[in-house]
Amino acid sequence: MRIPEEKIEEVRAAADIVDVVSGFVRLRKAGRNYSGLCPFHREKTPSFNVNPERGIFKCFGCGKGGNAFTFLMEMEKVSFVDAVEILAERYNIVLTREGSARPETREEIEEMYEANRLAARFFYDTLQSEAGAVGRAYFDKRGWNADTRRIFGLGFAPDAWHEFLNHARTAGISDDMLERTGLIVRKEGGNAYDRFRGRVIFPIFSVSKKVLGFGARTLKGDEQPKYLNSPETPIYVKSKVLYGLAQSHRAIRDADSVILVEGYADLISLYQEGITNVVATSGTALTPEQVYLLSRYTRNFFFLYDADSAGMSAMLRGIDVILESDCDARIVQLSAGEDPDSYVRKYGADKIRERMGAAVSFVDFVTARFQAEGGLDSPEGKAQVVHRIVELVAKMDDAIRREFYIRDISQKYGIYENLLYQELEKELRSRKRERPVARPADLIPQHEEEAQPTGDVPKEEKDFCTLLLQAPSELQSEVLHGVCSSHFHDARMQKLLHVLFEQEEHDGNINTDALWSYVEDDVSMHGLLADMLIERAPISERWEKEQNVRPTDNRRLLLDAYKRLLHRHIQQRRARLKEALRFEADAERQRSLATQLQHLQALDTVVKHCGAFADLPDVEE
Ligand code: UTP
Ligand code: MN
Repeated sequence: MRIPEEKIEEVRAAADIVDVVSGFVRLRKAGRNYSGLCPFHREKTPSFNVNPERGIFKCFGCGKGGNAFTFLMEMEKVSFVDAVEILAERYNIVLTREGSARPETREEIEEMYEANRLAARFFYDTLQSEAGAVGRAYFDKRGWNADTRRIFGLGFAPDAWHEFLNHARTAGISDDMLERTGLIVRKEGGNAYDRFRGRVIFPIFSVSKKVLGFGARTLKGDEQPKYLNSPETPIYVKSKVLYGLAQSHRAIRDADSVILVEGYADLISLYQEGITNVVATSGTALTPEQVYLLSRYTRNFFFLYDADSAGMSAMLRGIDVILESDCDARIVQLSAGEDPDSYVRKYGADKIRERMGAAVSFVDFVTARFQAEGGLDSPEGKAQVVHRIVELVAKMDDAIRREFYIRDISQKYGIYENLLYQELEKELRSRKRERPVARPADLIPQHEEEAQPTGDVPKEEKDFCTLLLQAPSELQSEVLHGVCSSHFHDARMQKLLHVLFEQEEHDGNINTDALWSYVEDDVSMHGLLADMLIERAPISERWEKEQNVRPTDNRRLLLDAYKRLLHRHIQQRRARLKEALRFEADAERQRSLATQLQHLQALDTVVKHCGAFADLPDVEE
């Protein structure tokens, strides 16, 4: 399974060494190079250097050096071919191979999930045991309570070489599988040992609550790396994962905004303080896949990054990606020396919300940065800033948004709009020549059905149907008798309801497994169904239960979801009536329309206060 020379070269050229290294090392810009603390040996002052132009790294302390491939091989203990594969995947390069490749089979993928699930449970249980006392003390010190520890499945890895390995062997998991999942490390001679030892554990979940990998924080002040992470594996593709999304996606959808933080700790502290629409990028730059993943829930991004300069440049790269995806980015500024974790613990959640209220647009953010560096004092400096901002504006797909920002810049800098448009044109032309950005089709994680694009089913409709499909069967029948498919505007949801009605009528209950046969040839329905059913993934059961979705709440959840759907249905009818009213000249008909409008508003209020499906009013005309 040789990878052709040219392909390797293509991957090497595409790989950004700063990006690759930043996944493990906090880099600071120092002239043309970047420097940081060497991940390969212990040191207090940085002697580890990265040169982006030549794509290489070198540590003057321990002598290690090489390119992006070497770095991954050393860091992740993977083979050369693996390193090429990891980077090819990350930069969306399809590897053609000579000879036969060995892609993981479905069973192997399942085994990897199983190994991780076992590990998560083991670390979680260890935290509660005698051996976990240091871990508990650490979490106590950070102020994370029992609820928080459970919600995030936090754990502790014993300070020993083979404890987990033995546990996993007893459970019948092969060493090979443990190694491929990154849970153990195997040295040349065949000696195997636990990767995570004496560290507190942060499991990383998929949206469907499968365990993809782990972050493990040292408890010692000077041990490097501070966070030891699972390597990239077929199920843990770092560029496609966001820490905390499993716990926060509902809140993100509800708030219609997401807060991006850098670290595990930032996320957990905010979450515990009630700011739950958060995800963490885990110290790396935001990728297009991650933005795509989030854009299913919202298009409004808030950056809440550390006030230090590494955080800033990570942020700038992230803004590019967000604008390209036609999402909106605002920046929340914290005082120097603070990160969200320390800030929320010092000042509280309200203060964070206050800061968010004062978030600035990317234009203002870039401007302020240049201003702080004295870059606006000269005409050349000013031209440079404007150029940089127009570059960002050019990334937007939507011409109307571009226009909005051009006007904004014109006013702020006192530059003729015409000049800005000329600049913009130039950018747009050169952008066309660049590598096209990854399209959603390329971004679907191979083993994560959850992320299939689902078109634009209205959120209310999909939420309701998801809940319905997952409800206990008596409840399903009861609810079905109270709903009407004409309140659903999406053809696919209507179709689903009709199938459910049919099942219910025919068999007296709903059988979700049989749904597939009804939608046999309809690919977009397949994606949707998978999406709606997937929340039942095996591992979620226990945690989900503990996380407050008690069965007794199901009826209320369903009713609330249906009420939201009705509310939207009513409001849309009101909007149509209002439009009609605007164009109605006849006084008599005007009065009649106005009455209908009022009536609908009243109906909306009735729906809002309704306490049971049986009491829902008749919403049709
Ligand atoms: P930070 O160094 O800011 O860590 O790195 P933190 O989140 O504030 O951690 P605490 O408060 O000291 O516990 C931000 C993120 O970068 C990744 C981790 O995801 C971390 O949360 N990181 C950092 C690593 O993966 N490895 C490292 O060695 C350091
Ligand atoms: Mn921190």
